[in-house]
Amino acid sequence: MRTVTLTDVFAHPIAQKYLKRSGLAHAITAAYHAYHLALRHGVNVDLATKAALLHDIGHYTWYKNGRWDYEQYRQNDIHAIKGAERAHKLLIRLGEHPQNAKEIALAILLHTDSYLPEGEWKRTPLQAIVKWADEADEEPGGRHHYRTISDDLAWKKIRQLDELVSRQHGKERLGDIV
Ligand SMILES: [Fe+2]
Repeated sequence: MRTVTLTDVFAHPIAQKYLKRSGLAHAITAAYHAYHLALRHGVNVDLATKAALLHDIGHYTWYKNGRWDYEQYRQNDIHAIKGAERAHKLLIRLGEHPQNAKEIALAILLHTDSYLPEGEWKRTPLQAIVKWADEADEEPGGRHHYRTISDDLAWKKIRQLDELVSRQHGKERLGDIV
């Protein structure tokens, strides 16, 4: 049994506020990519889809004179840090198991290299999948953040993905027991 579904997360006002800020269409597409990637690589689909859905909720709006200021963004952005913290708080509030909330938060923290020190280090499979899922939906100039989707279609896609995840998660759990 999943404690917290994508629908639970999506319905929360905090998620609504920040998902809409950084692009609902991008978050949902990344969550679908994460589902398929997790299936292919034998990673927990429940954690992968929640992390991908929430990966950008830490974005701050870097506006100057009514326009996005990329220079300010590039220099000062900490969206992965803020997103990890917001996602963790939200998931714990919704009743997520602390171990899951931690894994999801870490995958969000490490989904981008933009602020990390240079060097060789290795992501876990879950962390790699969230990064790939994000990259798979990236468009030049950050246009993926501006793609729109209607609320109706967004809800439909979230519910559909929840069904897929629940079905797969049930199989994974059974595999643990057998
Ligand atoms: Fe992203």
